[in-house]
Amino acid sequence: MEIIVAKTAGFCFGVNRAVQHLEKMLDAHTSQNTHIYSYGPVIHNPQVVEHFNNQGVTIIHTLDELDTYPPGELLIRSHGVSEETIKKIQERGFTIVDSTCPYVKKIHRIVEKASLSGDAILIIGDKNHPEVIGIAGWAKGEVIIIKDVDEIDQIQWDKNKTYTVVAQTTFNVEKYKLILKKLQKKSIRVIINETVCQATVERQTEALELAKKVTKMIVIGGKNSSNTQKLYEICKSQCKDTYYIETIEELELNVFKDSDIIGITAGASTPKNIIEEVISNVRNAKF
Ligand code: F3S
Repeated sequence: MEIIVAKTAGFCFGVNRAVQHLEKMLDAHTSQNTHIYSYGPVIHNPQVVEHFNNQGVTIIHTLDELDTYPPGELLIRSHGVSEETIKKIQERGFTIVDSTCPYVKKIHRIVEKASLSGDAILIIGDKNHPEVIGIAGWAKGEVIIIKDVDEIDQIQWDKNKTYTVVAQTTFNVEKYKLILKKLQKKSIRVIINETVCQATVERQTEALELAKKVTKMIVIGGKNSSNTQKLYEICKSQCKDTYYIETIEELELNVFKDSDIIGITAGASTPKNIIEEVISNVRNAKF
């Protein structure tokens, strides 16, 4: 049996930065007795979230919930939030530690500037994902959100408008290209921004190539992690025996054979120790 682990598996720069910010807030908290909050789970990984809960981090899910807690320091995770949300948090007396990933921040700036100059904003991504909700919240005018190429024909495009296009940072890069290609065939003015994050591009490209050459593929990450779900889709398209797991407990080791070549990748919010645990259990499995 051979095991090939993707070099890009695990925490990306933005997630790492948010986790470190929260750790620093906790370190300072022990001496200052401040209440520590995170606006939404810091990352899409239940084990890491539980760790921080045990350390005293309270997760706030909605603005209304803020009223039920005493003010303190509140982390904005890497997904970022809308301008309105920032204002409301500050109005309620909370101090923001902004850990919005700089790549997401860049999209906020593009959207804000383009919409102030009168463009309509077209976001390619999942309308229910917090990152997309946050991006849409920086627009000052019309916003359209789509995630499938088929949706293009369902929209009433206005030939007199300019559409500034951005993608969710973790969007499937091949799918984004297809959508852009179809958009360019419409007789409308579009300004395209390459906003799929480079870390995502590299992770997806490596996963695609890896899945092509193995007999079985393991994708590790939270079930509610959008970038892990996309990795799974990509791997599954190339390798029918692809397993999507959060932790080693979900993996049935008896599906592997000695003759297998096993590829392993992981989403941007999967901690190193979880990846290492999977590797060592697969390596030491008895067939
Ligand atoms: Fe940032 Fe890219 Fe990670 S946008 S949060 S570095 S996936």
